Amino acid sequence: MKINKEYKEITNDILNDKNFIKLKDDNHHGSNRYEHCKRVSYLSFLIAKIFKGNTEEAAVSGLLHDFFNGVTNSTDDISYLTHPYTSAINAKKYFNINENEENIIKTHMYHYALVKHAFPFINKREKVNAKDYKPTSKEGYIVCLSDLLVSIYEVGVFKVRYKACLYFIFLINLFNYYGG
Ligand SMILES: [Fe+2]
Ligand SMILES: [Fe+2]
Repeated sequence: MKINKEYKEITNDILNDKNFIKLKDDNHHGSNRYEHCKRVSYLSFLIAKIFKGNTEEAAVSGLLHDFFNGVTNSTDDISYLTHPYTSAINAKKYFNINENEENIIKTHMYHYALVKHAFPFINKREKVNAKDYKPTSKEGYIVCLSDLLVSIYEVGVFKVRYKACLYFIFLINLFNYYGG
């Protein structure tokens, strides 16, 4: 299919890069961060196509928006609010990204910044000025929206499935215990 071929040509180098592949080691929303970034990238690419945005910038920054290793919030540089900056530093270090792509990566947590601005009691340790996370381009809003939609999907599908398995195992053990 023509769209898939175009998407592959844009993203192939990054998807096969040894540093990027390391994201497969990180658990993310019940899946891994490599798959999460791929989903955000592909959805961003499609939305950019529909709304006549820059498909290449949307796909590339979608892929690199969470380009860091480790568990989110485990250290200061990969907290909910700092990981976009860490990802942008890594993206610049390993790939030839342009200024807009850098800004898209840095502002992809605008959805979280808005929620945190409205409800400051969430994660009190970190203060936020939502304006600092406001996307500066159409593609920035697209990646931010895609990240939100994909995250909701992943938490729904993978975590619920994981919990369902745990409950199932628990019930089997319970039946085994009382049954015999
Ligand atoms: Fe992120
Ligand atoms: Fe993300």
